[in-house]
Amino acid sequence: MRDLDVLVLGGGAAGLMCAIEAAKRGRKVLVIDHARRPAEKIRISGGGRCNFTNLHCTSANFLSQNPRFCVSALKRYTQHDFLGLVERHRIPWHEKTLGQLFCDESAKDIIRMLLTELEAAGGTLQLETDIKAVEKPDERFSVATSKGPLRSHSLVVATGGPSIPKMGATGFGYELAKQFGLKVIPPRAALVPLTFSDANKELCGRLAGVSLDAAVSFGKTTFREGLLFTHRGLSGPSILQISSFWEEGRPIWVNLLPETDVFETLRGARQDSPKQDLKTALGQWLPNRLADELSSAFSLKGRLADQSDKVLRRASEQLNRWQLTPVGTEGYRTAEVTLGGLDTKELSSKTFECVSVSGLFFIGEVVDVTGHLGGFNFQWAWSSGHAAGQFV
Ligand code: FDA
Repeated sequence: MRDLDVLVLGGGAAGLMCAIEAAKRGRKVLVIDHARRPAEKIRISGGGRCNFTNLHCTSANFLSQNPRFCVSALKRYTQHDFLGLVERHRIPWHEKTLGQLFCDESAKDIIRMLLTELEAAGGTLQLETDIKAVEKPDERFSVATSKGPLRSHSLVVATGGPSIPKMGATGFGYELAKQFGLKVIPPRAALVPLTFSDANKELCGRLAGVSLDAAVSFGKTTFREGLLFTHRGLSGPSILQISSFWEEGRPIWVNLLPETDVFETLRGARQDSPKQDLKTALGQWLPNRLADELSSAFSLKGRLADQSDKVLRRASEQLNRWQLTPVGTEGYRTAEVTLGGLDTKELSSKTFECVSVSGLFFIGEVVDVTGHLGGFNFQWAWSSGHAAGQFV
């Protein structure tokens, strides 16, 4: 039986950050993970370069049933604090776009940095360890694992969400929450491509690989970023962002030409080049394959001179406000994060300790706080891990 001050379940971004901070305070810390390698999601993130934070991070970049919950932790450990750590480890980085910071070389630099910090602080990481059972018979937790029993004063749940199961992701944290009588906001896949059926699916399939800058809206929320057609539907940053807001059965609106008032522009073109084909005119602003397909899908054909204002208005409506109803998402198989999770009402926003179970902490993605695309989810892992690390 090993006796610990702090046992962290999950050696990902949040768990490692929490363990580093706790070990720096002189706590006897062990991190266990069932995977063969730590922080696999960091390794594959950002196309292998890890979008590790965002310069413009504020609480407005997060979704939660309680949007204020994340404020305190984000303020106590900011994007600038994490960037300071990256710079102290001389990891070269760059801003790609919209404040998104990436490693110049490899996401593995971030993993190495975290492991170096953990070792320097005196914390230990134990991989390939399955968690068999968790109990709290007295003031300490007892955890049965495939590598023997553990006892600890504080237990930190940092097992993330179930997105990308083949990377070792599980819903373990939710089960543990339920075991202790804690409420879980129903989880669902987020930052995930949207899928379509019938004619829209076929249209997307024919356009697979075409990408463009677009503004995608659901209700009052709009994201203007890249959009990509895929064999199953739509992807790209603007779609991933809106997927976190989209509600089943309801449409999204896609503005394929966010800089252009299509009606006014086509009216001008009709005056200046009346003999031009409507399809050719659209091809000036849209990728050719897209102009071709949409002209047939929306029956936009013939010379500009022959088009009434009504037809031009219809073209504008379809290109500036294309209404599409997804049938679903690609699900956890490809989702970058999971919406929902441990209800924040169960936690102190200062310490991340459960209000009703002393010594039990939840941090990172397992909690009902989900960031937009762009480095915000890692910042949440760093900030929540850092906050809990001061109190475990
Ligand atoms: P995380 O998932 O990182 O860690 C959980 C750990 O717990 C894992 O090591 C896992 O093996 C372990 N575990 C799970 N169940 C267990 C069990 N039952 N027993 C033992 N161990 C268990 N975010 C961002 O800000 N910028 C980016 O560039 C990207 N890119 C990106 C790409 C892809 C493909 C994905 C899937 C995700 C991203 N993200 C991202 C999101 C980001 O990876 C995610 O929000 C954080 O990794 C969450 O950190 P956590 O530490 O909470 O969980």
